Amino acid sequence: MNILAIETSCDETAAAVVRDGREVLSSVVSSQIALHAPHGGVVPELAARAHLEALAPVVDAALGEAGVGWEGLDAVGVTRGPGLAGCLVVGTAYAQAVAAARRLPIIGASHLAGHVYSAWLADRELEPPFVALVVSGGHTDTIELRRHGEARRLASTRDDAAGEAFDKVARMLGLGYPGGPVIERCAREGDPALFTLPRTRLERAFSFSGLKTAVRYAIRDLPAGELDGDGVPLRAEVRNALAAAFQEAAVTQLVDGLEAAVEETGATSVAVVGGVAANRALADAVAGRFAGLHVCVPPLRLCTDNAAMVGAAAWHRLRLHGPDRDGFDVDPGLAEFA
Ligand code: KG4
Ligand code: ZN
Repeated sequence: MNILAIETSCDETAAAVVRDGREVLSSVVSSQIALHAPHGGVVPELAARAHLEALAPVVDAALGEAGVGWEGLDAVGVTRGPGLAGCLVVGTAYAQAVAAARRLPIIGASHLAGHVYSAWLADRELEPPFVALVVSGGHTDTIELRRHGEARRLASTRDDAAGEAFDKVARMLGLGYPGGPVIERCAREGDPALFTLPRTRLERAFSFSGLKTAVRYAIRDLPAGELDGDGVPLRAEVRNALAAAFQEAAVTQLVDGLEAAVEETGATSVAVVGGVAANRALADAVAGRFAGLHVCVPPLRLCTDNAAMVGAAAWHRLRLHGPDRDGFDVDPGLAEFA
């Protein structure tokens, strides 16, 4: 069973061919980072139009890499939410059109289920039940995948997503967009002990706005002459130290939250998924804290947005619920984790 999977929920145009849910025959991702970087974040209208331009060639590349033509496909899976409405419409309209033209079954899948299933794709030993920390630019949740197709959300963020906090702090430090990778690089050179930032620990919730505000105040309270005209710290030592202190506080909160989820569920397997799972400090902290458990942090190409994970989620959905027969709308707020 070969599924062509399509992902256009945010700023990556992606297509993949996945065999029997778990074998990634190809996975092509075209990133729009350069398009949005000058704006310091994703501009929805620009993103949707860029998907329209990129999608057909990306699908062709995915089919070419997989070595299967249109006739070698058995179904089409596509992200129908959550995400930016205009972006989701491009992917779902394309997917519904090709499925109708080729008379293939179609499955509208959840981007978040895709992130959860990225761990299952990456790790052949991993089967539910397991607990996943989903950390991306739009989401920070702990999820229990109890069995295929059945997930329960244990905690989520009250304000910013973790990745969003990385992006905003990077902007305050004048480090550019996206913030995660550059904060991680600076943090490696910085001394986190130079600044004291709050440790947030909530019951069944995450929150990053207090930490973000604390970074803002730490910058504001620097001695005169330490800031440039835009209010950005002039010295690399200061920027690196703030990046390190922020990352340490954010990672601690995430790992504490994952630990609470493990205690609540009694899970013996944990996964960290989504763009922020690319963070080495987070992966190391998780490996250290859960040394006795089965731990999965997928490789970078499966952590950041991609279509292979959507193919895996779509395959499970097809198996359990059958195809979506009558056409379907996008759902920008979809909160479905399996
Ligand atoms: O999952 P993803 O690719 O897209 C969404 O669905 O949001 O996640 C993107 C987010 C961005 O906020 C980015 O700053 C963050 O993941 N990110 C990182 C790292 N690499 C990407 N955050 C921390 N450390 C990283 N190395
Ligand atoms: Zn994502």
